[in-house]
Amino acid sequence: MDAAHILQKLRGGAPLYEAEIYWFANGLAEGTVTDAQAGAFAMGVCTRGLGAEGRVHLTAAMVQSGETLRWDLPGPVLDKHSTGGVGDPVSLALAPALAACGAYVPMVSGRGLGHTGGTLDKLEAIPGLTTQLSVERLQAQVEEIGCAIVAANARLAPADARLYAVRDVTGTVDSLDLICASILSKKLAEGVEALVLDVKTGSGAILPDADAARRLAHALVETAQGAGCMTTALMTDMSQPAVPAAGNALEVIEVMKLLTGGAGASPRLRTLVEVLGGEALALGGMAADAQDGAQRIGRVLDNGDAAERFGQMVAAQGGPADFPEHWRDRLPAAPVVVELRAEAPGVVAGIDTRVLGDVVLDLGGGRRVETDMVNPAVGLSDLVSIGDAISSDQPLVRIHADDADDAEAAAAKVYGALSFSDRAVTPPTLIGERIG
Ligand code: URA
Repeated sequence: MDAAHILQKLRGGAPLYEAEIYWFANGLAEGTVTDAQAGAFAMGVCTRGLGAEGRVHLTAAMVQSGETLRWDLPGPVLDKHSTGGVGDPVSLALAPALAACGAYVPMVSGRGLGHTGGTLDKLEAIPGLTTQLSVERLQAQVEEIGCAIVAANARLAPADARLYAVRDVTGTVDSLDLICASILSKKLAEGVEALVLDVKTGSGAILPDADAARRLAHALVETAQGAGCMTTALMTDMSQPAVPAAGNALEVIEVMKLLTGGAGASPRLRTLVEVLGGEALALGGMAADAQDGAQRIGRVLDNGDAAERFGQMVAAQGGPADFPEHWRDRLPAAPVVVELRAEAPGVVAGIDTRVLGDVVLDLGGGRRVETDMVNPAVGLSDLVSIGDAISSDQPLVRIHADDADDAEAAAAKVYGALSFSDRAVTPPTLIGERIG
């Protein structure tokens, strides 16, 4: 078998044999497939598709490109994964909240993908923190603290580690087959018993169209359940960021406001953490039902247990030992902060959330090419929400930039991404359909 032959078949729309898919996934993991071939494969799958059978084979092949973790713990091993959005730091709060409820969460996450932000980049905004943990260290941390948030590596979903980075810079993010294999290869390799998937729809989602997102949700649930993992998907709204911020450190601030009970915690973030966490606890047998589970999550958010777990996780991964107490002083801040103000009174009618993700990239908060350094401090904060009534000259958003020129360019783009009405606007429903 050779890569060129497989790529030629893919280009012509011929179905790939299971053995060819396994050969390619192993080649990605072992480095015998080049970046050019990986990019061509991603483009081929994006444009031609693999079909339901091919998607299941790619997922299984990517899991088997590395190890699958085995656990012997006094509580269930659970996880949650999002299909990706802008201003979506739910995982950072949810992993420690689940751990505080007695579950174990070995969360293998991703970096920024296309216009969307990545959990790993957000967590790494905390000085000193690493997400590059060996398998042994990951297992020890999960046994001791209950949660860890780490990157895929040479032993854990290595084929995804390669393909993910290539997709990010080759315009091959929005493929149902690739998303399905990417997410599930990480989750199945973790050895989780139950999984909740947050499938985003709306302008900031990787698949903005609701029907496409629904197809993705069904494909994810069927593939995960077929592999023996209890899985539920919730469709949730991404027609505006989940929190009123986008950018790595700025999203960590939103998480810390929620975990430490500070003023101004985002109600949308709290709802997402409670609802997704409640589903996970119910699936794992730790709650009577999803509603009971959501209440349990609410309690550990309020009583400080989730914040304590978050602090332990941060310290164990090399971050400051006093992060929950001193997060405001520990996070990096951008040198230039400017406010974009409303030109006239009105109601916020819509947000092109994808543009906000692109603005964060323009400011340096993500990667255009694989080798780009991410600036953790830049981005957007204090963003208005759909349905907000605003007066003339009211601040719409704060832009955090490295210099005034960047801030000015970002302001023009953000203004163009907002639309206004002179009538009342109903905010979008945050939690949609449940699948699985
Ligand atoms: N998250 C992932 O891990 N992979 C994707 O392709 C999309 C979201």
